[in-house]
Parts: sequence; C-alpha cells; structure tokens
Amino acid sequence: MKIVNISGNSTINIGLLGLGTVGTGTMQIINANRADIAAKTGSELRITKALVRDLHKQRPHLDPAVELTLDPDPILTDPDIDIVVDVMGGLEPAGQYITTALEQGKHVVTANKDLMALHGRRLFAVAQQHNRNIYYEASVGGGIPLIRPIKHCLVANKIKSIMGIINGTTNYILTQMTIAKKDFQDALAEAQAKGFAEQDPSNDLEGRDAAYKLAILAGLAFQSIVKVEDISIESISDVSVRDIMYAEELGFVIKLLAIGEENRDGLKLRVHPTLVPKEHPLASVHNEFNALFLVGDSVGELMFYGRGAGSLPTASAVVADIIEAVRNINHEIENHAIETNYAAKPVVPLSQSQSRFYVRLKAKDQPGVFGSVATVFGDAHVSLDMILQTRREVNLAEIVLVTHEVVEHDFYQALERIKKIDSIRNISNVIRVLERS
Ligand code: HSE
Repeated sequence: MKIVNISGNSTINIGLLGLGTVGTGTMQIINANRADIAAKTGSELRITKALVRDLHKQRPHLDPAVELTLDPDPILTDPDIDIVVDVMGGLEPAGQYITTALEQGKHVVTANKDLMALHGRRLFAVAQQHNRNIYYEASVGGGIPLIRPIKHCLVANKIKSIMGIINGTTNYILTQMTIAKKDFQDALAEAQAKGFAEQDPSNDLEGRDAAYKLAILAGLAFQSIVKVEDISIESISDVSVRDIMYAEELGFVIKLLAIGEENRDGLKLRVHPTLVPKEHPLASVHNEFNALFLVGDSVGELMFYGRGAGSLPTASAVVADIIEAVRNINHEIENHAIETNYAAKPVVPLSQSQSRFYVRLKAKDQPGVFGSVATVFGDAHVSLDMILQTRREVNLAEIVLVTHEVVEHDFYQALERIKKIDSIRNISNVIRVLERS
C-alpha cells in the first residue's frame, strides 16, 4: 500500500524474516542511510516487523520501532507490508514463507542462495503469477554486484565464460596454506576462529556452496535452466601444502574455481581446485575475498572483486534490492522476472571436456621410470608440458607433471595404466590446470 507522508515521500513498510547477521546489517544500513535512501527513492523505508527465534536475545543494533515476532503470519499477511525480506537462510520454511508472501502480493528480497539455486524457477513462476518480483542479489557474492550487472549491464553480450572464486571459506584456507604454509586443518581452524568458516564447513569445503552460486550465475549468464546436479564438484580437502609449493615452482597458485562455459556442444559447469597461472587476475584474490572473472563477446574480460560474505557487505546487496523494489513499486512496474524465459541447454559431461592436468606421483628412483610414464601418456595422446622431479625418500622419487589440454576420459584411462607400472608407488594427487590465456 502506498502512503504519502507530509514530506511528500511515500512510506514503504518492510518485514524481515530473520534478524541474524545479515538481517541486523540490513537494519543498520537502513537506519544509518535513511535520509539518503529517501532522497534517492522518494520513499521512507520502515522495517515494521521482524521474525526471530528468541524474543529476549540481546540485540545491540535493534531499532525499537521494529516489532519482533515468533510467528511469520503477522508479517506475511500484514496488508501494510510491501516488501518481505528473507534473511533467515535454509530451504524450509523459507521457501514456504516466500511463496506465501508472493501470494499475499508482497515483493520479496532474498539472500538465500540454496533456495534460489534449487527452487528459483518455482518461485519465479509464483512471482509471475502474482505480478510480483523476487530480488536476489545477495544470494551470490555477498556485497559484490553480480546478478544485476549480468542481467542488465551486460545484457548486450553473449557471455562465453564465467570463472569465479565464490567461496570465501575455501579461499581463506587455500590462501593461508599458500602464504603461511599452514596445513589444511590449521588453516580451517583459523578460518573458523575468525568467523570466515562455519562450524560445519562441509558445504564450503566440498564445493557445494560454490556450485549453488554457480548454478544461479550460469543460469543468468547463459540464459539457461541450470540444475545443481549438472555441476561437477570436487573438494579442496585433498590439496596439500606440497601441491601448493610445486604449483608455485611451476608458476601457479591453487584456487577453488567455479567455472561455467558455453560452446557449440553446450554448457560446461564445474567446481574444482585449479592451478591458476600467477599472472591471471584471479590469482591475486586472497583470503576471504571473492571475485568473478567473465568474458563477454563485446565487453571482453571483466572482473568483479569484493567481500562475498559478512553482515554489512551482504546487507549492502539486500538493501540495494529493497531500493530496487521500492523504485519499481513507485514506478508501478509490477513484474520483470525475465529469468522465466530460459531454455534447458545440454550439459557437456566433464569426462568429455578438455582439461590440463597437474599430476604428482611417487616412483622408485630407477632408470626408465620417466620413460615408461611418458610412453603411456604419449600412447593416449596426452602431451606433457612441464616435468619436475625431486628425491623425497631413499630410492623414491616424486615426479610432478603438467599436461597440455586433453580429453578428460583419455587422461584418466592413461592414469589407470600408469598406476599399474611396477615402479610407480602411487598417484598422490591430480588437479586441473587453467589454460594460460
Ligand atoms: N559460506 C560462504 C563462503 C558464505 O564461505 O563464501 C555464504 O555464501
């Protein structure tokens, strides 16, 4: 409902679902920048109600005008609330609350990446049915503008590829393993102590968090329905300081990359640890920072960089979405859910994709070992680009190889044959390598 007050501004009422880290940041920004926002939009924003789990929790930044409730219905069905903001996370009950809010004629702002990645299409359909919008800039990349730039500023482009460091937890861990040579467990414990990693970080470490974000971004970039299950995912937990040191020697840093590409055959979608050439812009994204590197046919190379999580950075995106919703309300633009027009595109299985590989293996230090490995790779049309050899233990050599691009299926077949060579003790690790551009 649009109410115009004495200053000539309308008042827009907002209901928050959740008042944790991001919800509190949202309240802080709206309170701190109230006059500026009114000047920019012609509307005064008022958070009137917030859904919480505990009415009595100490909340240092609580605006006393906000009514706290344990029950979502007073928010979802309040005719005076124009915008419902989901900052509670999780699939359910958030999904049901958003559905109800849309059915009740509210616009929705959400920071919920799991929900948008898995059920975004269903929610867009509900939004369209009710002539309402869902805004979700905060669901990917925290404070870094990604969704709106891809949807609007880059809409003239055919996007060829997106490549991102879109998980702060893993980037923090890998950075500490690289810079301070901390082992994985120590780096993880430090990330948790600093609040960059959750107490249960498995979604981050296994690459699922990045895959959800990639599903959202790739859907927008390639105008496609992208299913999370079509994304190949690999964890960082097998990366060791030893791999990082060899990578450095060869001119690379190891990062967890989320990669989406489109070519004639379809989409290639994957999240895996990657050797990134030191001169690539993504190589200098450190610690908890995130970045997305994109190539468009007109704009060329472009990189977005910033904080991918945290209270105020994520709330910056939430409040931007609220302001966008307010502008659309004020201009009576009811629905612009352009995401509903996307088509399903074929996804190329990783086994049929071309990649470069780093391989670390241990072999008996005896004549002919190199030759036998090179012969197996050669027979499988796997061409080698770089080779390093060191002696680790008496009579044991550690060999590190980097291949040129090869079809993954051919590479893994060759690797199976290499494992069977008598002098090969084990394959210690295999990591993909980003092609130098
Ligand atoms: N857990 C995520 C990360 C932040 O480490 O980047 C929320 O998406």
